[in-house]
Amino acid sequence: MLNVKRIREDFPVLQRKVYGKPLVYLDNAATSQKPRQVIEALREYYESYNANVHRAVHALGMEATDRYEAARRKVSQFIGAPNPECIVFTRNTTEALNLVSYAWAQHHLGPGDEVLTTRMEHHSNLVPWQRACQERGATLKFIPHAEDGCLDLSGLDSLITERTKLVTVTHMSNVLGTINPVGLIARQAHARGAVVVVDGAQSVPHLPVNVQELDCDFLAFSAHKMLGPTGIGVLYIRPEITDQLEPFLRGGEMVREVWYDHATWNDMPYRFEAGTPNIADAIAFGAAIDYLSALGMEQVRQHEMALTSYALKRFRELEEVQVFGPGDVTVRGGVVSFHHPQVHPHDLGTFLDREGVAIRAGHHCAMPLVRSLGVVATARASFYLYNTEEEVDVLIAALQKATRYFARATERVTQAKRA
Ligand code: ALA
Repeated sequence: MLNVKRIREDFPVLQRKVYGKPLVYLDNAATSQKPRQVIEALREYYESYNANVHRAVHALGMEATDRYEAARRKVSQFIGAPNPECIVFTRNTTEALNLVSYAWAQHHLGPGDEVLTTRMEHHSNLVPWQRACQERGATLKFIPHAEDGCLDLSGLDSLITERTKLVTVTHMSNVLGTINPVGLIARQAHARGAVVVVDGAQSVPHLPVNVQELDCDFLAFSAHKMLGPTGIGVLYIRPEITDQLEPFLRGGEMVREVWYDHATWNDMPYRFEAGTPNIADAIAFGAAIDYLSALGMEQVRQHEMALTSYALKRFRELEEVQVFGPGDVTVRGGVVSFHHPQVHPHDLGTFLDREGVAIRAGHHCAMPLVRSLGVVATARASFYLYNTEEEVDVLIAALQKATRYFARATERVTQAKRA
């Protein structure tokens, strides 16, 4: 079991108050908070060995390179990649997914081909494929999901055909919390020769993820949702597929030799890391991975399952509130999107903020999905390893208070109209 009380001491921001109330931070699906160890790694880089990587023979340059490459090894081990050369540092998940669309899809999709995805994707795993399909004359198709937010795989056999060139699926929905059976989908996709992309932005921070078990060709995720800094993300590329990719960004470091009229490409992963990379944040990301690895991702998952289970139970006390996504926490992560029929999500978000509770309200960068739920926006609470049952209680009490407050306000308006 995680020692959450002890863990919370590592997160300076969790000690602060908002509007005089202790901060209850429940917007972890948007970004997580950072432990001292990560903040310290950033400070140490800038104070002690700030230098560019892979270029200099001086001590600082070598130290920076060693630490940058050590971070790559940590990421590689964390997701069970066969070697660190499979790990490309990007800015974030969005850039990683766009990299696949430019480096692979642009060169391998053609008229009549199909890309298969789900109806629960974040815009970053939908809009790049819309573009790739439009430009290449391919068709974008969707795996449906049931009302409970679980994918309906009954028709998968007929959805994945010899025309399917790429299957791209979120491992965990940032709205519904659904954890999708990516390994199963990947095996069927590979049996038909399709390439498999996994959006791991919400899963890699919260559950044990192993790329060999997922059997994916690409896995994209971001550091900032897993205790690391913003501005650094990862694209895992299965070694066997490397030769099918064309460089996306061109310039320094991604080349082996350059002449005035042409150039040849560097080895993996540098071929996809043109220009000076985000050295400080990659190194601090390594510190975040050390932190998570020391806790153990199975422990993190168990803690969040228990917390989500408790939250879903408490939400059932709010009769008027509708909660989206699966009820079974074995197929659901710590994301709880909900709809209050009397209160707009943004009003709820603002009211809760005054109680010290940070949630997200909106379409969560998944407009088509939220629209399909029959609402314009949802409120969303999302948990991480430092959240507690007491914080869930604060959330529920704040929601009960909001219900009373907005009911009284509505009553006052009704009376004023009558008068
Ligand atoms: N994708 C992030 C979220 O769901 C920003 O909030």
